[in-house]
Amino acid sequence: MLDVKSISSGYKDAQILHGVSLVVPEGKIVGLLGRNGMGKTTLIRSIMQVTPPNVISGSATWRGKELMGMPTDEVAMLGVGLVPQGRRLFPSLTVQEHLDIVPKRAPDAGHVDWTPERIYELFPRLGERKRHRGNQLSGGERQMLAIARALRLNPSLLLMDEPTEGLAPVMVQHVERAVLELKRDGITTLLVEQNLHSALTVTDEVYILETGQVVHHCSTQELVNDSATLHRYLGV
Ligand SMILES: Nc1ncnc2c1ncn2[C@@H]1O[C@H](COP(=O)(O)OP(=O)(O)OP(=O)(O)O)[C@@H](O)[C@H]1O
Ligand SMILES: [Mg+2]
Repeated sequence: MLDVKSISSGYKDAQILHGVSLVVPEGKIVGLLGRNGMGKTTLIRSIMQVTPPNVISGSATWRGKELMGMPTDEVAMLGVGLVPQGRRLFPSLTVQEHLDIVPKRAPDAGHVDWTPERIYELFPRLGERKRHRGNQLSGGERQMLAIARALRLNPSLLLMDEPTEGLAPVMVQHVERAVLELKRDGITTLLVEQNLHSALTVTDEVYILETGQVVHHCSTQELVNDSATLHRYLGV
């Protein structure tokens, strides 16, 4: 499991997270919800040890190994894959080149090896466009490529930061199906999602962040039936 304990984190001029704790059990998809600017991306980057932000205190362990203080590439080699918000890609590299340049690790015992061929089975559209460059891809194709790059590492834990942001409904469904397929392959996921419908469709449980603190944690089923909480923290 991913065990985040009391992380406080922030930027030069401001502390953003104030003692955030959450658990992502092995094999589950846990949603991290909250309005804009509440600290979701800051938490993902703190776990992944990407700077900024700077972690002030707290702990995050994946399968018992402490990630705090570990260089980002070592965190990745423990099997922690990141799908960053805004899908940072290289405009001049092709789809295939994006997949070739990422670091790879051996898959966990009994798990799928995410070769480009296997990735193109999950996202046939990427296979059709493997010689297209980053700047020739649609928003949905870029998002698939961002997920594909993270898969190439053979992750056991995926940190996904708004993978459906800005996508048309049909592409959103495609990403949802991919996320659920990864779960069937045994990947554990912490999913930041502003699309509430998507979050409720794919997650097992959810945490809600408000100004850098966890204000609610429940099963997804409970949240579906809790209109007061939905209204109070998510404005729906
Ligand atoms: N590099 C940075 N330097 C200074 N402040 C930052 C930086 N990145 C984010 N912040 C601030 O930290 C706060 C939390 O931002 P964060 O990106 O974590 O929010 P978020 O919940 O991911 O929002 P969104 O849903 O819009 O992606 C915001 O007030 C933001 O302005
Ligand atoms: Mg964000």
